[in-house]
Amino acid sequence: MTQAKKRVGVLISGRGSNLQALIDAQSAPDYPAQIVRVISNIPDVFGLERAQKAGLPTAVIPHKNYPDRPSFEAALNAQLKADGVEIVCLAGFMRVLTDGFVSSWSGRLINIHPSLLPSFKGLHTHERAIAEGVRFSGCTVHFVVPEMDSGPIIVQSAVPVLQEDTPDKLASRVLEQEHLIYPLALALVATERARIVDGAVHLDGVTFANQPLTNPLPRGA
Ligand code: GAR
Repeated sequence: MTQAKKRVGVLISGRGSNLQALIDAQSAPDYPAQIVRVISNIPDVFGLERAQKAGLPTAVIPHKNYPDRPSFEAALNAQLKADGVEIVCLAGFMRVLTDGFVSSWSGRLINIHPSLLPSFKGLHTHERAIAEGVRFSGCTVHFVVPEMDSGPIIVQSAVPVLQEDTPDKLASRVLEQEHLIYPLALALVATERARIVDGAVHLDGVTFANQPLTNPLPRGA
């Protein structure tokens, strides 16, 4: 018997390229999740156009229309509940969520962040990675917990930082990897192959990478 696809709500604030990656992934017949609602807190963003083009229901819930975070989040929750959403994906959603909202979606709320967490939480990750001189940056999909950009890690991709990198160049190479790991992580959560055990994610039915990476390449390589 095939499992029913998990119902997903995607929260965005902007161009929605990660949303697009999820839309593209769900066109595979065996993808285990389906987006049933895209919500933006900012009107007229390109991500909403992407959703509409894909025939997905959208909603704009402007945070500015609400006196405080809890009332904004109550509106988000009302929409998500009305749509029977089971998993929420934050995809470039640039609002901090309260502990109450995060706890109510515990284990069912995931986020993508453009760094190898726990390094470079917060904003301007690529500028900071270059300034620190790290040899690898990357991206992370993780379960959301009340502390910002923390929470059990599901999938990461490491991207070498190059001497000639600018924040924009590094961002675009990291973004390519974001588009690969977000659909992968959502599939792992939707099929319940990503389980939180003692605060870390245990994955079933995956093949782990087992090749050390060195940057720059060792002499003679
Ligand atoms: C992505 O790089 C995502 O990782 C980042 O915003 C961008 C959204 O792009 N998210 C954060 O920084 C969250 N802390 P997109 O709208 O094209 O998906």
